[in-house]
Amino acid sequence: MKIAVAGTGYVGLVTGVVFAHIGHNVTCVDVDENKIEKMKNGISPIYEQDLEKLMLVNKERLTYTTDYKEAYKDADVIFIGVGTPERSDGSANLEYVYKVCDNIAESIEKDCVVVVKSTVPIGTNDEVEKYIQKNIKRTVNVYVASNPEFLAQGTAVHDTLYASRIVVGTENESAKKIMEDVYLPLTREPYNVPYLNMNRRSAEMVKYASNDFLALKISYINEISNFCEKTGADINDVTRGMSFDSRIGSKFLNPGVGYGGSCFPKDTKALHRLSVELDSELKTIQACIEVNKKQKLHLFDSIIEDFKELKGLNVGVLGTSFKPGTDDLREAPAIENVKLLLEYGCNITVYDPVSLDNFSKIFGNKINYELNLEKCISNKDFVMIMTEWDQIKNIKPEVYDSLMKTPYIYDGRNCYDLIEMKSAHVKYVSMGRNIIDNLK
Ligand code: UDX
Repeated sequence: MKIAVAGTGYVGLVTGVVFAHIGHNVTCVDVDENKIEKMKNGISPIYEQDLEKLMLVNKERLTYTTDYKEAYKDADVIFIGVGTPERSDGSANLEYVYKVCDNIAESIEKDCVVVVKSTVPIGTNDEVEKYIQKNIKRTVNVYVASNPEFLAQGTAVHDTLYASRIVVGTENESAKKIMEDVYLPLTREPYNVPYLNMNRRSAEMVKYASNDFLALKISYINEISNFCEKTGADINDVTRGMSFDSRIGSKFLNPGVGYGGSCFPKDTKALHRLSVELDSELKTIQACIEVNKKQKLHLFDSIIEDFKELKGLNVGVLGTSFKPGTDDLREAPAIENVKLLLEYGCNITVYDPVSLDNFSKIFGNKINYELNLEKCISNKDFVMIMTEWDQIKNIKPEVYDSLMKTPYIYDGRNCYDLIEMKSAHVKYVSMGRNIIDNLK
């Protein structure tokens, strides 16, 4: 089976590499010459665990090219894994998806299945099929299948090989058969991934409904966490108590400074936008979006209360990526927090093990960048923790006391045990838990 994958971001590249790993011949297509050159030299353009290893192991079955005509002309299946970024009104921008459709319509020389992996609004797959069929140059047929992606960044390779489920949306019998063949190795030992076929609109909806549910779970627990702060309850104990109910479970109940990343923020806004357009507003999703926006700056209430005037203070921001294990900064809470610190006139130094280059593209010389965590903490009036990297979690509480000018720690990711902090000479403010103040 000859497979082409359009787009070499988190979804496209990981999908292509995993397909090669399970035995398919795969051509990865991208418009970016630099990225293609890198990949030809075995370098992944994104930071993702195990990806380069699998690129190397499967290099015989992997081709990287900008030549879409060559890649698409005799492909059996073409996966579209390009981005669908957010427009200013919250809707999904499908420009890149349709650009690939144009290329497919221009290039294909035999019947093929086009699979939309990009997250797209409900009904898009139907439109994509009509669009390609209308613009196609030769007398060949195209069947479009929806196949949403559920991988999380940082664990993308594992999430694709050992996926929670494979969801395919197609009602066309030959497309159905081809998709089953593509995924057959993943549905068997050692992967045993459940395989579900349904209609295209349902498959598109599964993706949004899943992501928005998880985002909602986070916003819910963040509100409960904030309420714990008001009532003297401890969010860790509360979530532990909740998690024994198997209907609730223990996952995605970590409070924090809000969700970021390339999916939850965009997918909540896109689904909400679509619901408004269809005159059927999803009010829970709107609430989820509002709660998350506010949550990102939650720590400032305590910071302002403690310092009153922030101008001229030296601040360390620990962690910039939207979560550990990735250098991705999309919608990362650190961005909003650093912007606000700058507005207050603080001198800011940021630490992150992998995303400082990306962060410097946003803030340039307005702030300082430090790859050495201890140096980032040294001589600061206060530090804010934005990402729960192990490097940060492994710092002993006394280190803050010994290195900082005044050891005020505002932890947006609950990196430390309260018991551990109680014996340190620090002020420690975390999410949904009692404040420890040993500086009084
Ligand atoms: C998510 C989904 O998990 C994945 O299935 C989908 O395909 C894409 O979107 P990702 O964005 O990579 O994946 O990261 P995820 O681990 O889900 O975290 C998203 C955000 O939620 C992060 O900012 C994280 O810090 C936050 N989060 C997660 C919490 O604040 N609390 C939690 O309990 C879990």
